[in-house]
Amino acid sequence: MSQTIVNAPAFVKHTKLIAWVAEIAALTQPAHIEWCDGSAEENQRLLDLMVSTGMMVKLNPEKRPNSYLASSDPSDVARVEERTFICSQNRIDAGPTNNWEEPSVMRAKLNGLFAGCMKGRTLYVVPFSMGPLGSHIAQIGVELSDSPYVVTNMRIMARMGKAVYDVLGTDGSFIPCVHTVGQPILTEADDVKWPCNAEKYIVHYPETREIWSFGSGYGGNALLGKKCLALRIASVMGRDEGWLAEHMLILGVTNPKGEKHYVGAAFPSACGKTNFAMLVPPAGFEGWKIETVGDDIAWIKPHKDGRLYAINPEAGFFGVAPGTNTTTNPNCMATLDENVIFTNVALTDDGDVWWEGLTKTAPAHLIDWTGQDWTPDCGRKAAHPNSRFTVAAGQCPSIDADWENPNGVPISAFIFGGRRGDTMPLVVEAVDWQDGVYKAATMGSETTAAAVGKQGVVRRDPFAMLPFCGYHVGDYFAHWLALGEKLQASGAKLPQIFNVNWFRTDENGKFIWPGFGQNMRVLQWIVERCEGRGQGEDTPIGIVPRYTDLTWDGSEFSAEQYAQVTSQDKDAWQRELASHDELFAKIADKLPASLIARRKELGNKIAG
Ligand code: OXD
Ligand code: MN
Repeated sequence: MSQTIVNAPAFVKHTKLIAWVAEIAALTQPAHIEWCDGSAEENQRLLDLMVSTGMMVKLNPEKRPNSYLASSDPSDVARVEERTFICSQNRIDAGPTNNWEEPSVMRAKLNGLFAGCMKGRTLYVVPFSMGPLGSHIAQIGVELSDSPYVVTNMRIMARMGKAVYDVLGTDGSFIPCVHTVGQPILTEADDVKWPCNAEKYIVHYPETREIWSFGSGYGGNALLGKKCLALRIASVMGRDEGWLAEHMLILGVTNPKGEKHYVGAAFPSACGKTNFAMLVPPAGFEGWKIETVGDDIAWIKPHKDGRLYAINPEAGFFGVAPGTNTTTNPNCMATLDENVIFTNVALTDDGDVWWEGLTKTAPAHLIDWTGQDWTPDCGRKAAHPNSRFTVAAGQCPSIDADWENPNGVPISAFIFGGRRGDTMPLVVEAVDWQDGVYKAATMGSETTAAAVGKQGVVRRDPFAMLPFCGYHVGDYFAHWLALGEKLQASGAKLPQIFNVNWFRTDENGKFIWPGFGQNMRVLQWIVERCEGRGQGEDTPIGIVPRYTDLTWDGSEFSAEQYAQVTSQDKDAWQRELASHDELFAKIADKLPASLIARRKELGNKIAG
């Protein structure tokens, strides 16, 4: 690699950054280096390039202006949790829920894999800010990637481009992120539409705050600002600095009197976070308003007024397409009108996109996500179940006026929700912060297509952070408990904590609760509880609203159906507790005493 190619443009004045790019280029040996400026021209050039190589299709501009469809290799369609590593110096600091490797061993392994891995490709230098550019809460990262798909997606998902260098100046700190699809172009045959490698490594060094990703071009494996930086690395920063990085949407609820609350809600991947974040209040809720701050990640910090304030560090949505339609999420559908990158959905004959659930009746013919002809009777899904859209948050009609406020928005409630066909009621309020931490810590959910692996089995997913916590999950519980104690000691009002479950099923496996906009009824009760107004009943597992405690205007959901989604079955709860014990046994050496005490208390209440 000659020095001239490494040469940085005049707007890059950071010597260490330039030296680091040279070092990575020497290792990976790209044919070219491009310093991205985030401009519209650059973006268009890369989109055109991807269309010319067949990685993307430009959609019909009359149907979907300025939008593209990318189709990945069928082996590269989701996050790879089994290949995700937290390489802390000591194994104990990664904890039992993360894969770990000794940093020096991992570095040696990756140095081998990265040697020459960008031959024949372009190394893009992608500067980005998670959080509003230049604000005190933002974190800057620089991703070096050989994927133009990454560049165009990062431009939507983060504040990406030249202005980041102005903030970095000559010596500002940044999180180095190195990414390769892991398929150098050595012969023509290597120049495939969606390059990737069967071997994959998504590696985090929490102490030195570095990210290295090998072998995948898809989603959270490749867009390193999202899960890798804004959750795994940021969770470690939060532990060290006294704040929280969470897998949470943030929304604002305004009642007809104009009183507004913000809530943070954590759900495992592909459990409808985007739908909840953009909820449209149903008939009967005239005068209520829901506004969206974020749909996936929240950074939450204690504010001078003693309350917790949250920001959304992202600039876009990388949402699951299947199931999204004008009934389930009209705001999202409007967000997707233009300027979208779709990945792994199907292509219609008139150059638009389609996915399962978009319309009641499927088109008579499509090109499916694998590029094959598709007809409704062919027996295959047209879109991959984890197919996605990437779109700017600012395009969302329900975006909150304060979504980019660097001070964040004050949080009144935290909501934790898993996907559970049984056991967990529609909603239950924790009796206090410690109880809320217990509930979040023991959350379980049926697995979905957002991660590679077995689907539909209940796994414990503490705080919906199982794949995203960058350190020992026992220390993470202790951090939540300590933060609550500290705020409480200062006299602050802590957010109230709730569990919800939209997914209870009947004996035929059908969802009982209608969900989507109807979740407003639960949300209303939650904010009223935060105001000290809503009524509920004490039960062994917490405070649960009776049928008459919710508002049913405009609904036909009956008291009998309500009983089905709120019932507490003693045997099911005994099994549930046994499963909590299994999780706790795994983390016994770091399990906070108050969680052990709460488990005992819960056991007694359920038995009694
Ligand atoms: C996501 C996920 O993409 O959680 O947000 O998998
Ligand atoms: Mn997510």
